[in-house]
Amino acid sequence: MQRILFVTGCIREEQSRSLRLARHFLESYRQSHPEAEIATVDLPRMNLSPLDPDSLRQRDQALGQWNDPVFDLARQFRDADLLVIAAPFWNGSFPACVHTYLEHICVPGLTFDCEDDRYIGLCSAKNCVLVTTRGGRYDGGVNMLGDELATPILKAIMTMVGVPRVSTLAAEGLDLPSPTDPLQTAMAEAAQLAQTLA
Ligand SMILES: Cc1cc2nc3c(=O)[nH]c(=O)nc-3n(C[C@H](O)[C@H](O)[C@H](O)COP(=O)(O)O)c2cc1C
Repeated sequence: MQRILFVTGCIREEQSRSLRLARHFLESYRQSHPEAEIATVDLPRMNLSPLDPDSLRQRDQALGQWNDPVFDLARQFRDADLLVIAAPFWNGSFPACVHTYLEHICVPGLTFDCEDDRYIGLCSAKNCVLVTTRGGRYDGGVNMLGDELATPILKAIMTMVGVPRVSTLAAEGLDLPSPTDPLQTAMAEAAQLAQTLA
């Protein structure tokens, strides 16, 4: 049975267009993988704290005791077969709760190792899908607002933990006037991407 880990950092919850797009992707995926099981990590409701002096010391002391609850999120991440991360495009990347989550799942000896000058990723998943919507445009056209950092950040982390492929499913320009609805176009792309990940 395939384990999908669905991590949502969609702060606007039911109003979130990123969440709507991600659900469409997951439904499309489930059509060709009815046996797949989805576990959800609902970051906006978790109040996950960034590492601070005390929590980092506590985590360092627990390294190697992988059943310690401090590693629950990292173990779940390591064991997933497919990672789906939904987050709105915020300030060039994604909301702080997603950054914090990534901090928690990067654990030396559990999700990655280091050997000489390279990482050895220890995670099972071969694919990570970032589902996002952006108010402006970042596609390189004349109206491009700036740098899109969500994908490069996620790629860097996935390389570290051994997940070889990151696909970004994005709807752009949602807060700009447009004769067409970018979300509808992305919905069709979601269904296509779900098929290619089979
Ligand atoms: C705090 C905040 C920061 C944002 N930063 C950007 C940004 O840097 N670039 C951009 O194009 N849109 C930005 N937006 C607009 C969102 O990307 C856009 O509205 C997106 O569709 C929201 O996704 P959601 O419907 O899933 O919440 C920002 C919105 C908020 C609330």
